[in-house]
Amino acid sequence: MHYHLREYPLKQGALEIAYIEEFFNEFPKRKSATEIMTRLQDRECQILMAEAPLPDDPGTVVPVSYKVSHELREHETDSVLADLVDRLRGAVIFSGRRVLYTWLGATRRDWRGQGHFRALTEEQEVWAVNRGFDEAVVKTKNRYFDMRAALDMLQFNVIKLEVAPDVLDAKVYLSKPLGLSVLDAHRSHRQVTRA
Ligand SMILES: CC(C)(COP(=O)(O)OP(=O)(O)OC[C@H]1O[C@@H](n2cnc3c(N)ncnc32)[C@H](O)[C@@H]1OP(=O)(O)O)[C@@H](O)C(=O)NCCC(=O)NCCS
Repeated sequence: MHYHLREYPLKQGALEIAYIEEFFNEFPKRKSATEIMTRLQDRECQILMAEAPLPDDPGTVVPVSYKVSHELREHETDSVLADLVDRLRGAVIFSGRRVLYTWLGATRRDWRGQGHFRALTEEQEVWAVNRGFDEAVVKTKNRYFDMRAALDMLQFNVIKLEVAPDVLDAKVYLSKPLGLSVLDAHRSHRQVTRA
């Protein structure tokens, strides 16, 4: 399969991601375009989407999967990010290293299991390695079995578990060291358009 990816600049990307989050993400915490802009401005970031034809109307191509990642620094001023860095301390080394945080990502239900998320992740890794990032970090919860399974297949390591009263709510932090050897393991055939 050949994957069609689109990389967006910040403002257009924030609108696209807010749209796909609102209409196609079944999870409760959806992000608005303003939230996305606020988080990503003034930091290195990547907004990537995979596009595919509608099965019953192959002439129409729609966004089916997305991934938003950004630089995470040792000293963050935003309270949410500062809290994240605190929680990662001991599990991730920030000093003298570049850490990429995958903030948002999902595939629309009808397109799951077709490799779109792998293609996005592999493209994200190319981008990150080219920019000198040392490690990719992501957070999920026990209850998100599909995401945990996908991250497992994409060779992320569990680096921290934060227990919760309901075991399904326990937060799982994962990471993947980046480097040229990571790129050697890539499998997807991708074409990237820069919007
Ligand atoms: C997790 C998710 C993004 C995967 O997207 P996808 O496009 O279906 O993933 P892919 O088809 O690219 O699969 C990537 C790899 O993970 C594996 N995988 C994906 N979903 C899986 C599942 N449910 N069970 C087992 N393996 C799975 C695939 O087999 C593939 O491995 P391979 O390439 O070695 O064969 C998608 O299921 C999703 O959007 N889920 C909801 C998002 C979510 O859980 N959000 C919660 C907040 S973190």
